[in-house]
Amino acid sequence: MSGAIELPLVRSLPAQGRDHAELLRELEALRVADADWRDGRVFSLVYDPGHAHEAFLQEAHGRYFSENGLNPMAFKSLHRMETDVVRMVGKLLHGDAKTCGTMTSGGTESLLLAVKTARDRARRLHPWNRRPELILPTTAHVAFDKAADAFGLRIRRARLTPDLQVDVKHVKRLINRHTVLLVASAPQYPHGVIDPVAAIAKLGQKHGIPVHVDACVGGLILPFIERLGRPVPPWDFRVPGVTSISADLHKYGYTAKGASVLLHRSTDYLQDQIFVAADWPGGVYASPSLPGTRPGGPIAAAWAGLQAMGESGYLELARQTLVAADTLRAGVRGIAGLQLLSPDDMPIVTWTSAAADVDVYAVADQLEARGWHLDRQQDPPSVHLTVMAGHVRTADAYVRDLADAVAFVRAHPAAKSQGNAAMYGMMAKVPFRGMVKKTVRGILLEMYGPEGGKTQGDPQPPDGVVGQILARHGEAIGRALDGYQRLRTRLTRGR
Ligand SMILES: Cc1ncc(COP(=O)(O)O)c(C=O)c1O
Repeated sequence: MSGAIELPLVRSLPAQGRDHAELLRELEALRVADADWRDGRVFSLVYDPGHAHEAFLQEAHGRYFSENGLNPMAFKSLHRMETDVVRMVGKLLHGDAKTCGTMTSGGTESLLLAVKTARDRARRLHPWNRRPELILPTTAHVAFDKAADAFGLRIRRARLTPDLQVDVKHVKRLINRHTVLLVASAPQYPHGVIDPVAAIAKLGQKHGIPVHVDACVGGLILPFIERLGRPVPPWDFRVPGVTSISADLHKYGYTAKGASVLLHRSTDYLQDQIFVAADWPGGVYASPSLPGTRPGGPIAAAWAGLQAMGESGYLELARQTLVAADTLRAGVRGIAGLQLLSPDDMPIVTWTSAAADVDVYAVADQLEARGWHLDRQQDPPSVHLTVMAGHVRTADAYVRDLADAVAFVRAHPAAKSQGNAAMYGMMAKVPFRGMVKKTVRGILLEMYGPEGGKTQGDPQPPDGVVGQILARHGEAIGRALDGYQRLRTRLTRGR
């Protein structure tokens, strides 16, 4: 997972084309510092379908490598495949003959489009609403923030109940004449909790507001978890009032990256997703999603991959996923000082600390030292695992390493003030989130600025971004935190 990239930076096109074999060797060499996902020690970034299925997806992807879904008249094949994919997923999610939709490049595009569609529907039906708002659970995916930012909507955040579902009473209070969309997740990313979709959808129906269910994570696994006999609360098109659903194929559909679907209950909703420009000198231009050019590869791989797997394949993958998730949950429950935030029967496992001497970020450092790639969360500090079928091979080893890591942290109280643990601890506590944003933006600017790519070859702390923030701004953050503490003490005394 660590190591330096030896290849020199490429600063201009080579004057003469280079040798293919040499370039392919270099492509392999560039992997040296990448997370090694094939050994089941990485969570959430890659959904490993196994070698044989992966090779099949590559073959399908390659066959439509050059085709462009932008013009469905030119590439009728891609259009046909896209509608087949939409129908397959629509059926799985209990849509009916009216269910429709499109493929997108991923969860983020599906959510961006869902928000744009709701905004344009409100513009069409309620043109007097000049300040469109959407109501989001606190835990809804940040792509909704991106969407609100891009499409000019105001976000109203609804609180959570103690079991980490969105608080329906709060959603109800936040609804006003500007609300154009209600959102629920199935399940949400941070803790794997399914929001009370039926109650939210009822509110949507009562107030005539569309309801989007973000099932980017759950779309291709919840139906199979349900078939395995586990309790899954209603969340799909069986729930009246749910008007659109996003479901990622490149997550639990195990297809090639760049594939999600956005489904609508009917064309009454789909119509506002479509963009048409009639006056452009380049011709009349119409597009159902955000990009112009739409790569054929992910569409072909999704079409072939879904059918190659079939219901039996997905059922087996869901079964293995639950075996792995159950093992992880039982393991966490068996370790004193830890506590689960995630519910049973879901493919997401999130643990936090239940003891003063167990610092989550220090335990995370210890796990990382033992070769695990981790997703650290905040508010509260926790570690997230998106579990998939391949983790059935490594779940026991994770539990053993987790127990060791907790024992180490308890025996070494200083661990929480060292390395990444100190950084994450401080970052999570900084009350001035604007400062955190500014610093992170600066780091990304550098990564993508004219000298971008340079630091990749340098030895990095395991968590580059946070490491860099603290290395550069640790003192300022420390000062700000001290100032904040002083201010709080003064204000509290004055009460
Ligand atoms: C619940 C949820 N929605 C949306 C997304 C965004 O998906 P993508 O990363 O494919 O854009 C994610 C990603 O993890 C997610 O967990």
